[in-house]
Amino acid sequence: MNAVSQAVAARPVADPLVAQETKSLLRFLTCGSVDDGKSTLIGRLLYDTKLVFEDQLAAVARDSRKFGTTGEEVDLALLLDGLEAEREQGITIDVAYRFFTTERRKFIVADTPGHEQYTRNMATGASTSDLAVILVDARVGLVTQTRRHAFLVSLLGIRHVVLAVNKIDLVDFSAEVFERIAGEFRAFTKDFGFESVEAVPVSARFGDNVCSRSTRTPWYDGPTLLEHLEAVEVRTHAAAAPFRMSVQWVNRPDLDFRGFSGTIASGRIRPGDAVVVAKSGTSARVARIVTWDGDLDEAEAGEAVTITLDREIDVSRGDVLADPRARPAVADRFAARLVWMAEEPLLPGRSYLIKCGTRTVAGSVMTIRAEIDVNSFVERPADTLALNAVARVEVALGEAIAFDPYAENRETGAFILIDRLTNATVAAGMIDHALRRATNVHAQALDVTREARAAQKGQRAKVVWFTGLSGSGKSTIANRVEAALHAQGRHTFLLDGDNIRHGLNKDLGFSDADRVENIRRVGEVARLMADAGLIVLVSFISPFRAERAMARETIGAGEFLEIFVDTPLEVCETRDVKGLYAKARAGAIPNFTGISSPYEPPEDPDLRLDTAATSLEAAAEAVVAAILGGGEDWSI
Ligand code: ADX
Repeated sequence: MNAVSQAVAARPVADPLVAQETKSLLRFLTCGSVDDGKSTLIGRLLYDTKLVFEDQLAAVARDSRKFGTTGEEVDLALLLDGLEAEREQGITIDVAYRFFTTERRKFIVADTPGHEQYTRNMATGASTSDLAVILVDARVGLVTQTRRHAFLVSLLGIRHVVLAVNKIDLVDFSAEVFERIAGEFRAFTKDFGFESVEAVPVSARFGDNVCSRSTRTPWYDGPTLLEHLEAVEVRTHAAAAPFRMSVQWVNRPDLDFRGFSGTIASGRIRPGDAVVVAKSGTSARVARIVTWDGDLDEAEAGEAVTITLDREIDVSRGDVLADPRARPAVADRFAARLVWMAEEPLLPGRSYLIKCGTRTVAGSVMTIRAEIDVNSFVERPADTLALNAVARVEVALGEAIAFDPYAENRETGAFILIDRLTNATVAAGMIDHALRRATNVHAQALDVTREARAAQKGQRAKVVWFTGLSGSGKSTIANRVEAALHAQGRHTFLLDGDNIRHGLNKDLGFSDADRVENIRRVGEVARLMADAGLIVLVSFISPFRAERAMARETIGAGEFLEIFVDTPLEVCETRDVKGLYAKARAGAIPNFTGISSPYEPPEDPDLRLDTAATSLEAAAEAVVAAILGGGEDWSI
């Protein structure tokens, strides 16, 4: 038995799974990198609070001798190393949550990697934490990464921070070094809105001031890291905020019972309390708070309950029940901070699903106000956002939702963006405030409808959307189709990419972001023209599925036909009617579709035209048949 395993054998190993309900729970996040000693610090906390299992420690002791950097001692960093290794290879993008407990408190620590490419992981970990431990190496002091960590922690609404000045042993336990670093940190975070900033000189490797007070820092009279974590009052924001519950489902097992089920997002509620449906403003009083274990006298943030009301009011899934004295904002536009989490860039104008509470609506980022450099906090203009970028943006939704500013309520002020095609979460957002402009603009109901206008022309309104590569023959076919329809007395209009780009869209180029905006605008114009009762032909490359899907949605699926003009790249290139392919190949045109910019073919078009096998006439006829077909009465 070596020294380490003897020591381990002598330690009682606590069981983290034994629930100790009476203790409060502190969720915290550690920020720092391997170099700062983050793994060692977490390892130290687990080790000193006796939460390391014997077999784990024996393995670490073995590995310490093999790979460790600490000579004969146990390298506590190796406790966490499996994970680090995965991260180095970019395999794990998750956050590791570790549980430990002391006599006084339970802890969940979110361990996220420190490098800039893991900003999104840090955002995930921070979103559920009440406190952050930011590590610095005493020899180095504050570095760019420290600023980034502090900024993100503040952005994600954490109000309590501990600066762990680690490796204090390597600066001879110098009070001056510690005071200087702590002072600089307080100075640069003074506007970050932190409620508490505690600096602690520690040596994770030797345990100084981590769980036990060090005799080697007699000049330090503050708490040890663990003492502070055990004692700090974080007053969970959620319970203190006004009552909010997003209705997950309307529970109506029989005619006598109608309850609204959900998890209380913030605040607390008792029978007799008044609640209001945020969107409609209708109010009622809570009759009962029902749970599996019987009725409650009171329920608070985090609890899943079913609420019954004292009168029948209109409440549906996704509605927010709120305290009538402090109602959430209701708007379809808001300003927010966004952390972009996807490999593919954010394109303003692209439609995403936006989920806030239990409500999911269509929406888009209208404008990137500024990208924020996470290291220098300098703001700069941006057209798109790349992975891990942080920005101030304006978001527009398809319909109004209820929310609070994130700074006031981390539950009802947070949202995520979901890619409509892949269902992946692509961004996390924090709402700053509602944008009133849009709220004050109301849709006007028109008496003369699309149907009425079309009927007057003796037709049904339609949008016929041609997509395909440049030179695929879209415009030629569309032109022929329009001539045929016109000859039959139909009222039509052809929107052509090259033409629209000379006028309405002359401010747009060919970056992905510009193409998204190009298609967004033309989709809106096509809708207006369809509303005017016309058969609208749209001929644009429209390379992205997302925007074509959006156009279909804007216009209405029943009145939208997607025609894929399927001409292979080689054929377009051989024809090269406008000589653009030759130029693009020579490098004279950047971002050329099919060559240096992607084209996403339709997966399920209403009609596919194989132009290699079909003549122009046959293709045009097929389209006319598709437009006039479908069992509709087109007779005038
Ligand atoms: S889209 O991609 O945004 O839908 P759009 O249909 O408006 O494109 O315009 C395409 C036309 O612009 C092409 O037919 C071609 O004549 C011209 N063009 C000029 N530069 C490019 C480019 N980089 N990529 C594609 N088309 C280009």
